[in-house]
Amino acid sequence: MVFGILLSCIFLVTVHLRLGSSCQCLWLGLALPVVAEEKQTFFPSSVPLAVRSPTFNCWLDVHNGTNPMGLWPQFWTDNHILGWTGYIKVDGQTYHWLGDPAPGNTSMWLSTQVTPTRTIFTVQAGPMQLNVTFLSPIEPSDWAKQSFPFSYVYVDGKSTDGMAHFIQLYSDISGEWVTASFDTGIQWNSTRKNNTVYHQIQSTSPHSEFTDIAEDSVVYYAISSAQPNLVSVIGTDQALRLQFASQGPGFTLTSDLEGQIGNVQGEDGKLPVLAHALDLGSTDTIATVAWAVGLIRDPVITFGNVSRRAYYWSQYASIGDSIDAFMTDFPAAQRRALALDQQILQDALTVSPQYADLVSLGTRQAMAGIEITLSTTDNGNRFNFSDVKAFMKDVGNSQRVNPVETIYAALPALMYLNSSITGLLLEPLLEYQSSSAYGNGYAASDLGLLYPSAPGGPNASAIYGVENSGNMLILVLAHAQSSGDGSLISRYYDLLTKWAEYLGKNALSPAQQSADARDTVLSQTHGNVTNLALKGIIAIQAMSKISQISGRSDDAQKYMTMASDSIQSWHNLSFVSPSQLRWTYNNSTWGLMYNLLADKLLKLDFVPTSIYTAQSSTISTNVNESQFPLGPPLSSDSNLNARSDWTLFSAAAADNITRDLLISGVHEYASSNVSSSMFPTLYNVQDGSGPGPGMSPNGYASPAQGAVFSVLALSVANRTVIVPPSESTRDAPPELSDSSTGGGGTTGAIVGGIVGAIIAVLVIILKMTGGSLISCTLCSIF
Ligand SMILES: *[C@@H]1O[C@H](CO)[C@@H](O)[C@H](O)[C@H]1NC(C)=O
Ligand SMILES: *[C@@H]1O[C@H](CO)[C@@H](O)[C@H](O)[C@H]1NC(C)=O
Ligand SMILES: *[C@@H]1O[C@H](CO)[C@@H](O)[C@H](O)[C@H]1NC(C)=O
Ligand SMILES: *[C@@H]1O[C@H](CO)[C@@H](O)[C@H](O)[C@H]1NC(C)=O
Ligand SMILES: *[C@@H]1O[C@H](CO)[C@@H](O)[C@H](O)[C@H]1NC(C)=O
Ligand SMILES: *[C@@H]1O[C@H](CO)[C@@H](O)[C@H](O)[C@H]1NC(C)=O
Ligand SMILES: *[C@@H]1O[C@H](CO)[C@@H](O)[C@H](O)[C@H]1NC(C)=O
Ligand SMILES: *[C@@H]1O[C@H](CO)[C@@H](O)[C@H](O)[C@H]1NC(C)=O
Ligand SMILES: *[C@@H]1O[C@H](CO)[C@@H](O)[C@H](O)[C@H]1NC(C)=O
Ligand SMILES: *[C@@H]1O[C@H](CO)[C@@H](O)[C@H](O)[C@H]1NC(C)=O
Ligand SMILES: *[C@@H]1O[C@H](CO)[C@@H](O)[C@H](O)[C@H]1NC(C)=O
Ligand SMILES: *[C@@H]1O[C@H](CO)[C@@H](O)[C@H](O)[C@H]1NC(C)=O
Repeated sequence: MVFGILLSCIFLVTVHLRLGSSCQCLWLGLALPVVAEEKQTFFPSSVPLAVRSPTFNCWLDVHNGTNPMGLWPQFWTDNHILGWTGYIKVDGQTYHWLGDPAPGNTSMWLSTQVTPTRTIFTVQAGPMQLNVTFLSPIEPSDWAKQSFPFSYVYVDGKSTDGMAHFIQLYSDISGEWVTASFDTGIQWNSTRKNNTVYHQIQSTSPHSEFTDIAEDSVVYYAISSAQPNLVSVIGTDQALRLQFASQGPGFTLTSDLEGQIGNVQGEDGKLPVLAHALDLGSTDTIATVAWAVGLIRDPVITFGNVSRRAYYWSQYASIGDSIDAFMTDFPAAQRRALALDQQILQDALTVSPQYADLVSLGTRQAMAGIEITLSTTDNGNRFNFSDVKAFMKDVGNSQRVNPVETIYAALPALMYLNSSITGLLLEPLLEYQSSSAYGNGYAASDLGLLYPSAPGGPNASAIYGVENSGNMLILVLAHAQSSGDGSLISRYYDLLTKWAEYLGKNALSPAQQSADARDTVLSQTHGNVTNLALKGIIAIQAMSKISQISGRSDDAQKYMTMASDSIQSWHNLSFVSPSQLRWTYNNSTWGLMYNLLADKLLKLDFVPTSIYTAQSSTISTNVNESQFPLGPPLSSDSNLNARSDWTLFSAAAADNITRDLLISGVHEYASSNVSSSMFPTLYNVQDGSGPGPGMSPNGYASPAQGAVFSVLALSVANRTVIVPPSESTRDAPPELSDSSTGGGGTTGAIVGGIVGAIIAVLVIILKMTGGSLISCTLCSIF
């Protein structure tokens, strides 16, 4: 959300302007101190803490006004605690600012702010006021950084009585991060790098068959070693926390664990935890102290029969080096995050503060659904930079890999943040479906049902053919136009025409083909949904554009005629009256015609204005705020259930008044704080409830929330698409087929701008990490 401070500024500006005086807020901006009276205006049910991948996805469920200071962090499913504590000791009094550990008192919570990259709790611990910031970096144009699943938590503070106090800080994490079960065997150890001390913990029997919580992960807890009086130790929760709370300045923490193997929870009920603590001495100010938590899986996914590793491995010789670099990079990462937040919020505030709140809450979960990978050769040691692919898990709904309708929902975020990532997600879908193994005439729904395995379809059945074929054509053109990269069009042109032909036959009167049927509570199992037909028709027009871009004017003409004829028929079937649209042919149901956004995002200018006008009018006729304070349902036949992503799509395609009505409804829901949930896409508009924790699908933490960028994506510039000659017509193979070794330099001639840029980054990283060894005075593990 917007900084509370920014909101109070806006509020003050309003008040001051009314009184006719000038406002200091305008120029003081974000530099204003947080004051206790500052009003928080956005109250999500859960806030993201460390949200970077489908399996590294940690939240705090603060629904029903619960004090965030008395809660354990949760995995996105909201039914598994991720042990993570934070303590501050002030003049011998111990308070916690994270988790609900004993001993010690709870800090007093003052406010929570959410920005696209950060969640900030302002709390009071005795005479100290703290900002506890959870920063999950979003690095859309640096795929090594984007693919590195680590997050920071950092504490800043100052005394509110103007006096210096003796301050110690402590934080730990438990083995609950690496497995779903308390009984799992785990092993741990600690490592010291040039600039960093880190602990790690992992299962003793890792395996890649899991539903949500990864069972093949290693979790790390790191801190910069370049600070005095640091204590890093692995011991049990009960022993270490008690030792911390009971000792004064100059404290030490002593492990009570023998060996480096145990269970997540021992028979004595104690949990081994990975702790870093430090003594700041007597001070009135806490200058930023940062920890880094990360959860890695290697490989990330298997596509076809090939294991794929996260992109960042190509840049570092070892995980230790990458952790060291992440920790050393903290000040710069923080600056980049603040800059990205500022850019996004500035853009979103041109719509409304409510819209900025939604974008703030949805951004991290959108990006965390996606993992950017490389294939390797030479036993995983050499990386094929011409084989970058991204994979999305259908978090919140299923274990499906690259679910096409979810990628479609997330498209606005990808267009705004880095549209090339759309191409990375499409590539494996297109590759699989152009192989002989895939025989269908329509597009598949996904690459498999059991993340982290993506064997390739066909999991499609004909019922979603219009939905998936339409989505694919729209996504391919959106990727090309917003990135300028026409290589997918070039390579997969024939496949795309096959889908366009399918749509020509099926789009206008689709059978039960809406993927919204996957959310059973929506009851979208009937045929002839106007909104779906519209998508298919827009996609045919997109194919015409694709043909035009490829210089195939006969095809362009053919598909344009096909699309024009179809939209004319659609027009005849879909109007109840000149100002009202149907949701189903021959029916008076109404709904959110969210696929109109595709016409807008693709800048096709294809759908007649009369349809847009009628849609806005249909919404304003049927949706009034008093009837639907939490926003409208998807349609009049969706059992009063909404999909917030589609509501936001509809908002961006509507006139400004309707847009703001829809945004304020979703905002009211997102801020209603009533039921336990992680910003789900799916909810009941009467009471804000959803299927609930543990139910599938429930839309929790879904990357489909990338739809919050719908309005912002409208202003993403259109680029000139460069379409390389297709395989058959090329003289020489211009493939970027050279491999490069990770970390230790490169071999072979590397062609192409992107590859060149990657190598440049690698060289810079290697140059920058030549730091010196800084010792910590009290590292008890060494
Ligand atoms: C907390 O953050 C706000 C906003 O950035 C800042 O004005 C304030 O000084 C910070 N408070 C502390 C205790 O660091
Ligand atoms: C919400 O909190 C209030 C008071 O804190 C409590 O009375 C009420 O039962 C809670 N509601 C739910 C649904 O948990
Ligand atoms: C901490 O909690 C204890 C027990 O509830 C209470 O007696 C004590 O006053 C608290 N201390 C502070 C500093 O709030
Ligand atoms: C997206 O990221 C890639 C890889 O870093 C970069 O080459 C490209 O310029 C980025 N695109 C945009 C629009 O920033
Ligand atoms: C820690 O344990 C892991 C897994 O057993 C091992 O690969 C690594 O080398 C160990 N590190 C140290 C410093 O012992
Ligand atoms: C994967 O391996 C199996 C067994 O070796 C083989 O039958 C199958 O064709 C392979 N699949 C792909 C996509 O290569
Ligand atoms: C709609 O709102 C946008 C800002 O979000 C503004 O730029 C545009 O001018 C408005 N359009 C109309 C017709 O008022
Ligand atoms: C690298 O990937 C490209 C694209 O998938 C492929 O054509 C090429 O054969 C691969 N190179 C090696 C050395 O595996
Ligand atoms: C869809 O509508 C068309 C035209 O009204 C009709 O012929 C067809 O039977 C309908 N199909 C379904 C599945 O309702
Ligand atoms: C309209 O559609 C709804 C939901 O699909 C269906 O239950 C109802 O029977 C339809 N009404 C008519 C008149 O076709
Ligand atoms: C956007 O780009 C495409 C492809 O280059 C082009 O055909 C289209 O006319 C452009 N649209 C606008 C509105 O610039
Ligand atoms: C770490 O420090 C050692 C000794 O000073 C140095 O040789 C090495 O290059 C450093 N490594 C990195 C990655 O900075």
